[in-house]
Amino acid sequence: MKIKLIFFTAILLFAHVGNTQTYAKNGMVVSDNIAASTVGTAILKQGGNAIDAAVATALALAVTHPQAGNIGGGGFLVYMKSDSDVTTIDFREKAPLKASETMFLDENGSLIQGSNHNGLQSVGVPGTVAGLFFAHKKYGKLPWITLVQPAIDLAEQGVPLSFTLYQHALYYKENGDSDFMANYFKNEAGALVQMDEIWKQPALANTLKSIRDKGKDGFYKGKVAKEIARFMKKNGGIITLKDLEKYEAIERAPMKGTYKGHDIYVMAPPSSGGVALIEMMNIMELANFKEAPFNSTAYVHLMAEAMRRAFADRAEHLGDPDFNSDLPLEKLTSKEFAKNRYANIDWQKASVSDSTKFGQIYDGTNTTHFSVIDREGNAVSLTYTLEHSYGSRLGSPKLGFIFNNEMGDFNPQPGYTNNNGVIGSPANIIVPEKRMLSSMTPTIVAKDGKPILIIGTPGGRTIINTVFQTVLNVIEFNMPVHKAIEAMKIHHQWLPDRILYEKDLLSPDTIKALEAMGHTLVGSGQLGRLMGITIDKENKVYIGASDSSSPDGGAIGY
Ligand code: GLY
Repeated sequence: MKIKLIFFTAILLFAHVGNTQTYAKNGMVVSDNIAASTVGTAILKQGGNAIDAAVATALALAVTHPQAGNIGGGGFLVYMKSDSDVTTIDFREKAPLKASETMFLDENGSLIQGSNHNGLQSVGVPGTVAGLFFAHKKYGKLPWITLVQPAIDLAEQGVPLSFTLYQHALYYKENGDSDFMANYFKNEAGALVQMDEIWKQPALANTLKSIRDKGKDGFYKGKVAKEIARFMKKNGGIITLKDLEKYEAIERAPMKGTYKGHDIYVMAPPSSGGVALIEMMNIMELANFKEAPFNSTAYVHLMAEAMRRAFADRAEHLGDPDFNSDLPLEKLTSKEFAKNRYANIDWQKASVSDSTKFGQIYDGTNTTHFSVIDREGNAVSLTYTLEHSYGSRLGSPKLGFIFNNEMGDFNPQPGYTNNNGVIGSPANIIVPEKRMLSSMTPTIVAKDGKPILIIGTPGGRTIINTVFQTVLNVIEFNMPVHKAIEAMKIHHQWLPDRILYEKDLLSPDTIKALEAMGHTLVGSGQLGRLMGITIDKENKVYIGASDSSSPDGGAIGY
């Protein structure tokens, strides 16, 4: 085990190598944490396929990247097999049976500010373990225990605390709003773990052992489930044993868009990302890029207008398909609809988002994405989340993992939409057992039946737009993957009616010209934290890049 620790320490020391590309012939994992990418690649080397590596990487991230990697949250997986077949697995969290559409409202029917993102009632029934178990059972190759054991080792033997996690540890010591977080980054002597000190998580290791030994039932039934239910009941939560027993991951057909000879495979709802991405790609396909060259005023205007339209449609129409029988998915993703949306773009003037219609609620930006490809060319694009950074910041000390606060992704107040971004359309109001709408957009782009790009990112609403621009950068502008990831990004989400742009990356002249057209521009920090792999089919090489904004991230191949 000492050797393993030295290995991980060495890997972490090399983690800050910048944003260059990694090349490999046989397989690759790109994730937000280099130790987790290393675990996934080790599984590939042992003969595991992309699903096996994805399962092991996801569980490792639950240990090494606890701000978003999780077993207490949920997510989506897009899987393209080497025979060109594509499927997706939905393991999004669900509203508990005791949830109701008015659960976050006061006696006047107004939202109790913050209530849908704080406390145990903000926790959705977790889906991650069910999703990973389902994926492995149906598509994996190696034994389940082989995939869970590396995460147990990381939790039990510990990992050197990175600078990023150390900063979080300090923050939660000083500003912690829960006992759980105040005690989360402790060493065996009960003191705060220091940077580079080995950080162990024995309670999490025990929970993972239950999952290793009993599979899905090791989380949703038996002692772990009983402790979740006990903890919830004692502390005002509403998730019960029945909620846990009833949770199932769902295999769904992917949604498919096309762009100039490429196929784009994405999640169907309850992800809104797939539909919006296809709609925006369809709009862009109609553009003449000679008149709107990359990063020109016309280009930024066009992208913002495409985003504005897709986000308005998203707000109006999308929600869990199992609770909305009439989602107009075909229409929203059709080329005809894009023509109509493109036709009313004024090339001289910004449109105005109609605040009497639909807007967006704030949602969390602390999700995490990873991309995997194996020797046979099977590809996995997986995004999962706790919603906010460290989710609800609540958990049972006996179990050692953090619960999500994903209930905040529902529309909290039926029928009430306002300018600040609260939205009340019916498709995404709370109903027991419904999945909340998500922006997560794990994506695989293929050409001639083979993947050429595996991509995704965290970032709340910005996810959809950063994936959109990165896909365009690769397939329209032929950028190498690291350049596509690092290139300037913007974000428009209908309401608030403004373009966010990455500060210092858009020229002041372009900003002025856009303002003259009627756009409002607001500088922001980096948008997205993309993890991508491109496949150079000619040279049979996998090329991976992790966003330079991910301090502990990395692409590992072999
Ligand atoms: N929690 C972020 C999302 O699902 O979009």
